[in-house]
Amino acid sequence: AIERTFSIVKPDATRRNLTGAIVAKLEQAGLRVVAQKRIHLTKAQAGKFYEVHKERPFYDELCEFMSSEPIVVQVLEGENAIAKNREVMGATNPADADAGTIRKEYALSIGENSVHGSDGPDTAKEEIAYFFSGLEIVG
Ligand code: CMP
Repeated sequence: AIERTFSIVKPDATRRNLTGAIVAKLEQAGLRVVAQKRIHLTKAQAGKFYEVHKERPFYDELCEFMSSEPIVVQVLEGENAIAKNREVMGATNPADADAGTIRKEYALSIGENSVHGSDGPDTAKEEIAYFFSGLEIVG
């Protein structure tokens, strides 16, 4: 089925001018960018987005990093978009990511791993709604 998923180009990637290279990989995988904007989160906004991880030891570092510099947030659409996006991103830890994936090519570490993608249909809906209004999504 045609799905939508939520994606972030993280600060380590925007800083290294990799936004276009990452979008190219997403598009080559058959995903369409149906919404996109560059924003700079406050630490509190990052904290709310990553609230499910608040008990994890890396939570504070994660929120600092995600609010350190601009990010590009996106809605991606396509056949099985959620799984397809996870496939093209590669494993969370770049050391475990398959060749040709975004994280294998660009990620610096498990924390500075260049991209985020929703892990399922419910989180995709929630994450899209956190960043975009209906009017900003143009399929
Ligand atoms: P993301 O898909 O954005 O969802 C949660 C993020 O937490 C994850 O990508 C990683 O960037 C980050 N993360 C996961 N494990 C660690 C860790 N051990 N140290 C630092 N950051 C981590």
